[in-house]
Amino acid sequence: MPDMNRPLRWGLLSTARINRRLIDAVRAAPRSEVFGVASRSLDAASAFADAHGIPCAYATYEDLVADPDIDVVYNPLPNRLHAPWTVRALKAGKHVLCEKPMALSIVQGQIMGRAADKAGRVLAEAFMYRHHPRTAEVRDLVRNGAIGRLRRIHGAFTFRFDRDGNWRWDPDEGGGSLWDVGCYPVSFARYVTGAEPLHVWAEQHRAESGVDDAMTGFLRFPDDVLATFDCGFDAAFRSEMTFVGTEGVLHVPMAFRPEGRMPIVLERDGQREERFVDGPTPLFLGEVLDMEAAILDGRPPAVPVADSLGTIAALVAILHAASTGHVAVPEPV
Ligand SMILES: NC(=O)c1ccc[n+]([C@@H]2O[C@H](COP(=O)([O-])OP(=O)(O)OC[C@H]3O[C@@H](n4cnc5c(N)ncnc54)[C@H](OP(=O)(O)O)[C@@H]3O)[C@@H](O)[C@H]2O)c1
Repeated sequence: MPDMNRPLRWGLLSTARINRRLIDAVRAAPRSEVFGVASRSLDAASAFADAHGIPCAYATYEDLVADPDIDVVYNPLPNRLHAPWTVRALKAGKHVLCEKPMALSIVQGQIMGRAADKAGRVLAEAFMYRHHPRTAEVRDLVRNGAIGRLRRIHGAFTFRFDRDGNWRWDPDEGGGSLWDVGCYPVSFARYVTGAEPLHVWAEQHRAESGVDDAMTGFLRFPDDVLATFDCGFDAAFRSEMTFVGTEGVLHVPMAFRPEGRMPIVLERDGQREERFVDGPTPLFLGEVLDMEAAILDGRPPAVPVADSLGTIAALVAILHAASTGHVAVPEPV
């Protein structure tokens, strides 16, 4: 446990693009500070540290993980490296905020969870949207009957991605649109239903590299709730969820990154109502406050490992269905 009289010191594993959002959030959090950044080269780490006013630069990820001055490791590495570097950091006694998807297999996720338990450290998946109060409002509206009995769910996360050479095109790095963005609607549907899909089915289009660059999937939830989603690197930007009940429809535009003041739109009885739920500024602050509360106050993280394992099990089954053409049942976790 770090000295409570100083802020939690965060170390960033790599110079990933997403770091910028996390840095802003850590700086806005009352009990945290950005302490160090590691890269595969010292030059890159130093340049990033200089550009962002970060005190320490490390020539290797090992050096950062081994530094006793670091309390929390942020892991925004390519997906394949989430499990190994998270486990190394946990074994070195660090708390870890790991980017989504937490792991690429159930076994990897279970190993990560056991490493956190054994080390007595916090491990949480950085699903930022889960920390925005709008997300909880959507769940509460649906569960409290605002649209009647829930019947259908549709989620979509697509964008045009054409950065050649990026690891998202590499099957060995955990590339593909399902792991990258399809994980969001699957996670959101599980969150609102509070259940795991009974079975799933999907069709995909594969890029030349072999990763899925487009996918449409189906998940059957208990109580006859039917969910569909689509994701891809090949279509105009969409980031949205729709919940359809017996009495009404709830639209959630910008469901996964609610920048600015985005409404939830409730249609019922011929009426259309826009509801606004303010979120944190900066947008990623919620996940940092959640880590502070988990580490320093002993509160369970908002996205505990068990929840991440459920998402992984659903995604693994969806990939299986997409590659075999058969319905798949997610493994219990
Ligand atoms: N929560 C969100 O809203 C959000 C948004 C975007 C991305 N993400 C997640 O964050 C993670 C990083 O995404 P990103 O777009 O920020 O990635 P990125 O810019 O491509 O950065 C990944 C970093 O990993 C390091 N790296 C180590 N081995 C590598 C390899 N074999 N190939 C490429 N890079 C390697 C590189 O840093 P060094 O050269 O410094 O070592 C690189 O800068 C992903 O898991 C993604 O799913 C989350």
